[in-house]
Amino acid sequence: MAVSSGTTSLSVVFAILALGIFAPRVKADQRAFFVFGDSLVDSGNNNYLATTARADAPPYGIDHPTHRPTGRFSNGYNIPDLISMRMGSEPTLPYLSPELNGKKLLIGANFASAGIGILNDTGIQFVNIVRIPLQLEYFKQYQQRVSALIGAAKTKQLVNNALVLMTLGGNDFVNNYYLIPLSARSRQYSIEDYVPFIISEYRKILLRLHDLGARKVLVTGTGPLGCVPSELAQHSRNGECATELQKAASLYNPQLDAMLSSLNDELGSHVFIGANTKQMHNDFMSNPAAYGFVTAKIACCGQGPYNGIGLCTAMSNLCPNRDLYAFWDAFHPSEKANRIIVDQIMTGSTEYMKPMNLSTILDLDSNNW
Ligand SMILES: *[C@@H]1O[C@H](CO)[C@@H](O)[C@H](O)[C@H]1NC(C)=O
Ligand SMILES: *[C@@H]1O[C@H](CO)[C@@H](O)[C@H](O)[C@H]1NC(C)=O
Repeated sequence: MAVSSGTTSLSVVFAILALGIFAPRVKADQRAFFVFGDSLVDSGNNNYLATTARADAPPYGIDHPTHRPTGRFSNGYNIPDLISMRMGSEPTLPYLSPELNGKKLLIGANFASAGIGILNDTGIQFVNIVRIPLQLEYFKQYQQRVSALIGAAKTKQLVNNALVLMTLGGNDFVNNYYLIPLSARSRQYSIEDYVPFIISEYRKILLRLHDLGARKVLVTGTGPLGCVPSELAQHSRNGECATELQKAASLYNPQLDAMLSSLNDELGSHVFIGANTKQMHNDFMSNPAAYGFVTAKIACCGQGPYNGIGLCTAMSNLCPNRDLYAFWDAFHPSEKANRIIVDQIMTGSTEYMKPMNLSTILDLDSNNW
């Protein structure tokens, strides 16, 4: 498997480096990987923070190779892990992990933090989470640390050649606009005005990421927000998706696409790649059986209708076979669903990946990015 061979060759590289035979350097064919965003891509940063937005207790991680909770909001691997594997790399460590130092920094880093959004006021109920301005500040700090290791020129090269994943936006609806009836943002903006507002804020974030050296950035849209078990539990009588959130997602995703295209035009390069995660989800939600799922409505872990109420804890209902469920908990896809999503990211047509899929990106000579 690509994973184990990647791991082995990296350990050989590290062993050689540890002997001090060569000055540390990045393998020419090894791209670094950086991850920014929310719980869909947090690999454990929130474990190091005083917040309730965390996945550090069983049964989270039940299908991870360690069979232990890792901070990932999944039964096993999350989307960044599966992308790392496709790149032949080890999973990137959470930036806040004390293990992320020395040569491990050269693999990349995961800056994501569960609960955050595009807006600073998204996820305020989670108190101490790493909001996007701080994630980007950490990215700058990361580059200073790597510079001390390999010098400024090679650091710039490492960052320019890296793949970046950005997953943001769902919480600006779920944990902000629609969190409570008559939320501050919903009194300030109609949903038709809120979407362009957050898209314009997102644009600034992506430009800042470009300023910091990112040159190939996968940007995921939101999934079908109204169809997740949590929303079905609150709003659905017969399994139909929640209309308000579905409307929000259908306003948001095309505007995100348009914003990415306009940014690329402005930069004169395909820096930002849009991943149509709504379509990817819709595929297995509209025909779960075709993807080997028994349900795309009921979460594997949880309680109440659709197992969609409250958190997934040791006291929750837990399905025996996680691969049969599209949703692991009330909000997050199972590892199996993550694999289907990453397959599409890798090889999907332009309907899924605009303007190109990840296999095409990885084949590009990074000097031509
Ligand atoms: C969010 O917070 C950062 C500082 O932490 C600030 O620079 C930025 O302007 C804020 N964004 C908005 C939209 O207020
Ligand atoms: C996506 O990837 C496949 C191969 O993995 C390739 O054949 C196809 O042309 C790619 N599609 C696009 C639109 O880049």
